[in-house]
Amino acid sequence: MCGIIGATGRSDVAELLVEGLERLEYRGYDSAGLVLSGPGSLWRVRAAEGTTSVGALRTLAADAPDATTGLGHTRWATHGQPAVENAHPLFDCTGRVGVVHNGIIENHAELQADLLAAGHTMASATDTEVLAHLIEAHMASGLGLAESVRAALGEVRGSFSIAVVSADEPDLLVAARRNTPLILGLTDGAALLASDIPALLGRTERLFVLSDDQLAELRPGSIRVTTLDGRAVDPPALSVDWDLAAAQKGGYDDFMSKEIREQPRAVADTLLDRRRPDGRLALDEARLTDAELRSITRVHIVACGSSYHAALLARFAIEHWARVAADVEIASEFRYREPVLDPEALAVGVSQSGESLDTLLALREARERGARVLGVTNVVDSSIAREADGVLYTRAGPEICVAATKTLLAQIVALDLLALTLAQVRETRSPSEISATLDALQRLPAALEEVLSRAKEVDDVAAALAASRDFFFIGRNVGYPVALEGALKLKELSYLHAEGYPAGELKHGPIALLEPGSVVIGIATRNPLWEKFRANIAEVKSRGATVVLVANDGDEAAEELADHVLWVPEAEHLLSPVLDIVPLQLFAYRLARRHGLDVDRPRNLAKTVTVE
Ligand code: M6R
Repeated sequence: MCGIIGATGRSDVAELLVEGLERLEYRGYDSAGLVLSGPGSLWRVRAAEGTTSVGALRTLAADAPDATTGLGHTRWATHGQPAVENAHPLFDCTGRVGVVHNGIIENHAELQADLLAAGHTMASATDTEVLAHLIEAHMASGLGLAESVRAALGEVRGSFSIAVVSADEPDLLVAARRNTPLILGLTDGAALLASDIPALLGRTERLFVLSDDQLAELRPGSIRVTTLDGRAVDPPALSVDWDLAAAQKGGYDDFMSKEIREQPRAVADTLLDRRRPDGRLALDEARLTDAELRSITRVHIVACGSSYHAALLARFAIEHWARVAADVEIASEFRYREPVLDPEALAVGVSQSGESLDTLLALREARERGARVLGVTNVVDSSIAREADGVLYTRAGPEICVAATKTLLAQIVALDLLALTLAQVRETRSPSEISATLDALQRLPAALEEVLSRAKEVDDVAAALAASRDFFFIGRNVGYPVALEGALKLKELSYLHAEGYPAGELKHGPIALLEPGSVVIGIATRNPLWEKFRANIAEVKSRGATVVLVANDGDEAAEELADHVLWVPEAEHLLSPVLDIVPLQLFAYRLARRHGLDVDRPRNLAKTVTVE
């Protein structure tokens, strides 16, 4: 999604903005631009060269005039194609107001019609440009920049984080948000803003969160925050325990390989210090009392993408260990079907970024319907973390690659901890059973190291299948969410046709697609349905498909059935997905690299999806 960076009071502002945009590239974007404000005029450069646009800006910014205030933006197109004229910053008619925006102005068509009727001319096909003209109109009526932004926002519907500059008040940045993130930073003599933490890492430790329906005025060395209706507020400080090194490649070719390699640590850190001295599990940040955990009648989990796959696995864990009914739903569907929730329900939103708008809005819906809300996220003080009643943090460190890897594994184990905590309080598992499972969880990082040490074998399989175009990932029981994740990773990274199916469902239709040349990747690690799964594999083999199995070390039956085997150590059946997913990540990674694709920034995708 769009990324925003801004600074005032910095003599190196052009360099700071370009560097900030480079750090925001991972969010996914198709064009970029920056504006510097000086007395009497704005200076703007923009590029629409896909994921090399920020590099192009760096060259263009070499001609930047002296300035201390400016804004930068990476755009992920919604309204209007990726093109220079649609890249932000967008200007008003006079070229004296510049706006960058993340989100969608839903009533832009009506506003545009009114503005055109009043004599404004539009230079882009975006929804955002109306904001620049609304601000222009309010400034023309005598209001200052901040009050004009406030008035303009009173006229729009939708979601936004915006930042605005004006040649009339060249040291001032005005920012505001509703439903999409924006953070503020303060140093002696300067003030900063960004859509995302990595853009400001190492710049200042004085970071603040701008909340929904708030407006910030940033001047060199000062920040003033008010609500959109004008009340002064103190923005909450943002606690960030990531350092800049964690958000850099650190010698790896790309972020994806670094983040895959960091998975043992991500899992170990997420499990760290969760037991009290008496051996009982305690999820303190979740802020759920034993009485509340005991009274939960149903768990509703909402999530998107890979986080949804973690949620599907959590359903197995919650129902098996805690014997509580659990529903899992794609967040973007949840709120529009009038879900029935009772006050004893627990709604859990799983989101790496803590900012996916679909998940945030689904959780709001759940709360309005009376449920208690728990967020599971990797980003401290993200919107979901702040809005939820309690939070369970994954401790994977910053994930920069668009494709989720280490955060997914951390989510799976965090949700296992939730399931075991429910089991502990509800006494559906004995203390010794829970303790044994916790011990098994603690063994996962070492087993992950073992799986990662076999990357070469995965590469050999990727080499053998490099010309294939159709991939079916199948699994049963906990193998099914693993199959979905394997297919998603391959789609995202390699742009190849890949589908994830429950293996038992194949015969009800999709098996018609199989022919010689199709590749079926089966999750064949031991689970209660392994025998039935073997029959499913025989069915696809007899249709001429090439079969790859993810199987446990020493499984001779798997070796006989498959053309290729990706071996993993055996783990308890509910924990096995943490290991089984890794060869599929490596497979998608290696195939994408073989096809010469950018693994960190796949086309059309955004790391943090802040539109509905
Ligand atoms: O930040 P979130 O976990 O809420 O993001 C959800 C999805 O957008 C995300 O998992 C997406 O599917 C990834 N690109 C998967 O690799």
